[in-house]
This record gives sequence, structure tokens and C-alpha cells, in this order.
Amino acid sequence: MQFDLSIFNPKARSLIGLDISSSAVKMVELANDGKGGYRVERYSVEILPRDVVADGNIVNLESAAETVRRAWKKLATSTRLVAAALPASHVITKKIIVAAGQREEELELLVESEANQYIPFALDEVNLDFQVVGPAPSSPEEIEVLIAASRKEKVEDRVAVVESAGLKPVVMDVESYAVLSSLELIQKQLPDGGKGQIIALVDVGANVMNLTVLRDGQQLYAREQAFGGNQLTQDIARLYGMTFEEAEAEKRRSSLPDNYEAELLQPFVESMALEVSRALQFFFTSTQFNKVDHVVLSGGCAVLPGVDEVVASRTQINTIVANPFADMVLSDRVRAKSLLADASSLMVACGLALRRFDE
Ligand SMILES: Nc1ncnc2c1ncn2[C@@H]1O[C@H](COP(=O)(O)OP(=O)(O)OP(=O)(O)O)[C@@H](O)[C@H]1O
Ligand SMILES: [Mg+2]
Repeated sequence: MQFDLSIFNPKARSLIGLDISSSAVKMVELANDGKGGYRVERYSVEILPRDVVADGNIVNLESAAETVRRAWKKLATSTRLVAAALPASHVITKKIIVAAGQREEELELLVESEANQYIPFALDEVNLDFQVVGPAPSSPEEIEVLIAASRKEKVEDRVAVVESAGLKPVVMDVESYAVLSSLELIQKQLPDGGKGQIIALVDVGANVMNLTVLRDGQQLYAREQAFGGNQLTQDIARLYGMTFEEAEAEKRRSSLPDNYEAELLQPFVESMALEVSRALQFFFTSTQFNKVDHVVLSGGCAVLPGVDEVVASRTQINTIVANPFADMVLSDRVRAKSLLADASSLMVACGLALRRFDE
């Protein structure tokens, strides 16, 4: 699903997948490897000052643009074309069923009149887009159409940030859809390609923990709660008398004093595992499901040492750390070790970079 900015075919051209999340600006550029797979051309992560992005809103456009500019410089690419995304919370989606065989213009009109009924603001305040999903399950004469709508100002904020960084937004996607593209690559790494299996994707970022349960790419359940790496960063700042920014940098560099592991890291990892198992319990009690086949940990906290093992032993479920690049070739510019440390937090950026290869 992509909002209509300036439609072009990104296939032949390079494209940067850009994720503006609450903790950082992240960029990924992918290419074909010539053998049916992908090559990671380059990527960059540039930390955002605190409170520039909050709850998916860009609060400080100037500072965000400045960080995007720095991330792009670091990326050292020649392309300025960008695929960006909105948080799912800023997008209303709805599936409708309409008669098959209609012309594009007829569909557009239908979508608008449908959208009018359920979107809580005036249509001239929203960006509206739709995509034909396929034949309707109920009848061969009908098709399913997915409608997405977002307030114009949300799209415009992101476009403004990208443009004032000197870049050109050509795709505006939805973060949760981009994640699905990355998850598809990860699923291939599972036994049997993960087919028919229930996967709990747990993303633990800076502020928020998201549990999404899926089977064959279809979402079965989703829940969000306040839990994230900022808690650990704050504890580091307190224990060692650092500013938040210093603590964040030291944490990512893993260059903290010896007592860090026992005093802060291990307790945090334990409480993260507890949160994961509680969230899964909640999924079991509020749905008819009673098992999960795999836990996939993503987000920056997924790379904390040992967290996959602690989660696996607490939940008794096979647990892996998300790496959408695992089957990709790396260009000479990309250091395997750094990419491995960042991969779990590049789900959105990677999914957006994959838009280059869309039909
Ligand atoms: N190599 C690392 N080692 C330890 N912690 C890390 C590392 N990389 C990132 N983190 C932590 O992960 C968190 C950021 O993760 P991520 O980039 O997934 O968050 P985000 O998407 O910006 O935030 P949110 O999803 O909450 O909006 C921060 O707390 C950061 O300190
Ligand atoms: Mg995130």
C-alpha cells in the first residue's frame, strides 16, 4: 500500500528505504545480486536527539531533517530517491468488496464514497489510496480492495522532512507493511519456510514493545505496550552519572564498566523475557490459540547479549533474532559485524528498500 506521491517505477532506479523511528533515522539500500537474491549496498543509522519523534509524530521537523541529512551523508550514495513510511497508528485501513471488472476511474469513485462513510474527517484532509487484494473469497464476480487513508498533515510532515534534507520521497508506505516484507525473508530461514506455522514477532524498540502474531503473513493478533530500551539507557545514565545521550552511546558500543552486566543488563534482559511471556499469555487467553511455533525478536533490544536464550527458556518456544539480511550478499562497504548488530532494528528500512523491486 503506497500513497500516491509521484508514481514512478522504482524498479530500475536505486532507492533508499528510510525509517524515521523514535530513536534513530535508519537507511538501507539494496540491489539485485544477479542470482535472484539481494545485495546490501549500504546502510546507515543516525541517532535522533530525544523527543524529536514521539508516538510516531515528528515533533521537531528541523532537527529530524538535519538527522536525515547526516544519515544520507554517511550512507554515501548517489541516489536521492526515498521510500518512507507512516506508523500504522496514523493510517486507517479497511477492506471492501466490490464487483470485479471495473475500470480504474470507477474504482476510484467507489473507494471515495466508501471512505466517506468510515473516515472520521473530511476527505480533502486525507490522503487516500487503494490496492486490489485479489478475488473475493465469497464470490468470483467480486474483488477485495484494501483502502488506506491518512491525514494529509501526517504525510506532509514526513515529506517535508525528507525534502528539506535534500531528498525526494517517491513512495510513502505503512511501517507495518514494510515489516511484513522483511518478515517474509526471515520466515524463509525457518524450518519448512515457516509455512502454516504461528509466528510471534516481538519488536522491542526504545519505548514500545509490539507483539504481532502471524500465520502465512496474515496477522492473527497485535498488541502494544510501553516497554523498551530507554529504560535500560536511563538506568545506565543514573548508575554511572552520565547524560542520557552518553549512556545511549556507551550502551550501543557495549563499552560499559564490568558491573554493568550483572547490575543492569541481566535484570533488563530478564524483565524483557518476562514481558514477552506475559504478552504471549495474554494472546493465549484472549484468543482460541494455545501455541506459538516461533518467536522472532526484532528491534534494537533483540541484540542484547543472550536475550534470545532467556526468552526461549522462559517461554519454551524456539526463539530467533530477526535478521532480514541473513541470506543477502554484502557489498564491500558493509561490515558484516556492524550489520549483524543493527539488523534487528532495520526491519522497516529493509522492507522499504525492497520496494525498489516491486512490480
Ligand atoms: N547494539 C545495541 N546494543 C544494545 N542496545 C541497542 C543496540 N542497538 C540499539 N539498541 C537499543 O535499542 C533501542 C532502539 O531500538 P529501535 O531502533 O528498534 O527503536 P525505535 O524503533 O527507534 O523505537 P520505538 O520502536 O520504541 O519507537 C534503544 O533503546 C537502543 O539503545
Ligand atoms: Mg520501532
